[in-house]
Amino acid sequence: MQLAHNPITKILFEKLKSNGIPNLQNLMFKKDRIKHFEFKLGDLTIDLTRQLLDEEIKDDLVKLAKASNIKQKIMDMFSRKKINTSENRSVDHFSLRNPNRFQTKEWIKLKNFANKILDKKEINHIVNIGIGGSDLGPFMVTEALKSYSTGIKISYVSNLDPSQISDLLENCDPKKTIFIISSKSFATTETMKNAQLAKQWLLKSGRSFENSMIAVTASVSKAMEWGINEKNIFAFSENIGGRYSLWSSVGLPILLSIGESNFKDFLNGAHEMDKHFMTADINHNIPVILALVRIWNRNFLNSYSHCIVPYSHRLAKLPSWAQQLEMESNGKSVDIKGNKILMPTSPLVWGEVGTNAQHSFFQFLHQGIEKIPLDILISRKIINTKVLDDYESNYNNLVINAIAQAEALAIGSSDNIDTNKNFSGGRPSTIISWEKSNPYSIGMILALYENITISCGFIWNINSFDQYGVQLGKELISKIESNNKHKELSPSAIKFLS
Ligand code: F6P
Repeated sequence: MQLAHNPITKILFEKLKSNGIPNLQNLMFKKDRIKHFEFKLGDLTIDLTRQLLDEEIKDDLVKLAKASNIKQKIMDMFSRKKINTSENRSVDHFSLRNPNRFQTKEWIKLKNFANKILDKKEINHIVNIGIGGSDLGPFMVTEALKSYSTGIKISYVSNLDPSQISDLLENCDPKKTIFIISSKSFATTETMKNAQLAKQWLLKSGRSFENSMIAVTASVSKAMEWGINEKNIFAFSENIGGRYSLWSSVGLPILLSIGESNFKDFLNGAHEMDKHFMTADINHNIPVILALVRIWNRNFLNSYSHCIVPYSHRLAKLPSWAQQLEMESNGKSVDIKGNKILMPTSPLVWGEVGTNAQHSFFQFLHQGIEKIPLDILISRKIINTKVLDDYESNYNNLVINAIAQAEALAIGSSDNIDTNKNFSGGRPSTIISWEKSNPYSIGMILALYENITISCGFIWNINSFDQYGVQLGKELISKIESNNKHKELSPSAIKFLS
């Protein structure tokens, strides 16, 4: 059932029409607000007290989720029913964070390879060549967990623009570098063209590419045809979607970067979130509650965008990762049966690291016409840095910035003399905080974002696991490459290409 057909949708709209949008400035200070709008799992705290919701709306939203049959849909996913119907696949990425995985031959091959590289110390640089899900996830996590680094350098190449790989190769020692060609399909143009350039560079340097290039893919035969030795291929299942794949062998750069024990902690943190998602009642189910808040803002309050601001330098890439996750999963116009969707789905997801974001687009968030919902992420304590002594007050100031922005957006301020200085307030945000950034907590947070995305898809009744929308552009590129006067092209395109 689509959102437009959910019986609770009508009730929510009727109440919104008669009661209006709740007054956040009043709600925030209500007794028991924290009791009803703060959620905890392990050391993760989700503070929804600054969302435009009262208890009645929250209860109705929970009814909305129940009416969408979400509990059954979650069970179907975890029991590996083929819920990705358009591709006739189950959705298996969560099984990679289950400790059972550590018995599989794929895991043993992967960790043996990583441990050998780390023990021998002959290689000091790993270059991951991939794009989209084969780049953003591992890149983001490598940065997020830099404090846990094994010391090996990890670089990422994704762009088709050869200047990216060229700049990188200038500082690479061919004898000490390994390239990971990471591509589920082993056919993505950007990745294959960059892999070809890396191969030529290795050969020119007198290195045999067999020992310096490995593949991570669901298309083993294509990797072998390309020339990668089978022993250097780390396969993963077709049932792992690209944007959900960082837990699979696509996470090899993460494993090399933080080592086996930390990588296991990372998976265990994500598994804890999955267990909660699978078993918690809808009233307390954090991913479902956060999905309902997304839907409330998107479909009932008409917020077309959702902003993500991590107050953590190490999480600077999280907005880009979440952007692919949510927009590629839920940017859909048809429901799971192929019928036209009657209400909007994914918002535009965007963001930037705090406090930098405060000095670029926060003006728009505080005084722009639209009220843009915001996720603010912050770890309550810093983990020790290696070379600095007196950094704690800087970090405390960062934490204060995060909470002060959330308060200013919600409470606002009025100036009767100068309207330039009016802040309407009533601008919603969620604060996601945790004790310290470590592999376990980061694993939990990323699984939380994935499970929010999936829950939204379940409530909208769309397929969050396919991405046909990227195909048309790809087809046109290959048509143009084979004939740049193709009859489908506009005169402007033909002029541009000639
Ligand atoms: O073009 C989009 C996409 O298909 C993403 O879904 C995917 O993460 C990315 O390209 C890379 O695909 P692959 O891992 O097959 O190279």
